[in-house]
Amino acid sequence: MGAAGRYGGEAMIIAIDGPSGSGKSTVARLVAERLGWLHLDSGALYRALTLAALQRGARMDDPEALLSVAMTSRVELRPAEGEEPRVVLDGADVTGAIRTPQVTAHVGALADVPAVRARVTALVRQLAQGRDVVADGRDATTVIFPEADLKVFLDAAPEERARRRFEELVRRGTPVAYDEVLAAILERDRRDRERAVGALRRAPDALVLDTTGLGLAEVVERVVCAADAIRARRAARAEHGGSASEEGR
Ligand code: C5P
Repeated sequence: MGAAGRYGGEAMIIAIDGPSGSGKSTVARLVAERLGWLHLDSGALYRALTLAALQRGARMDDPEALLSVAMTSRVELRPAEGEEPRVVLDGADVTGAIRTPQVTAHVGALADVPAVRARVTALVRQLAQGRDVVADGRDATTVIFPEADLKVFLDAAPEERARRRFEELVRRGTPVAYDEVLAAILERDRRDRERAVGALRRAPDALVLDTTGLGLAEVVERVVCAADAIRARRAARAEHGGSASEEGR
């Protein structure tokens, strides 16, 4: 995708990634809410396709079967006032169902399939066409939107990420032990780093935020400030006769 056409003309893209439990989805949702932009949670798409595969009884070690599920499932993100977008799989609302430990346990296998990743990447870009979006996901800044206006890499110590995930599961009413959540986080970190395609990497020009010990509001504030600075620069350049789409990022 060329820089001039980018991802839909003048629309702006903030891409956020980081390891699992770094808070990227929550931060992306709150930043999108603050700015009034669309939140594109690419992890939710991987989760929805994993749920579809489980529902259809596909073998999770069969890449062909997983790709077939990915190509024949319709996943939508429907913006919802004041809350995360609803995730809709073949017409059914699966927003809650995609967060179960069963889906979490299998999503890595599906996300390991390069052709499935290509499908999800295309879907996310398509959903972003012509809109201001905040996209998050493990390869959001490196593969999905390498030319995003702002790239953010969120990090935090594994124990802190496990604590956040544990509290989120408890809030959702899913019974789970902290030690299991930590073990799952460490295992997912390893897989996420080592996979051949779509591995977790830091984009060299990403704003790196270590969120250990930082409140959510503070993290959101820093991302919004960085976005505001970019918008102000673009506006100033446009006023001085330059086209925003010619601007180097
Ligand atoms: O962000 P979340 O934890 O919901 O994502 C679920 C899983 O989907 C991740 O652990 C990862 O395996 C996969 N994923 C991915 N690439 C993305 C987003 C998510 O491989 N861009």
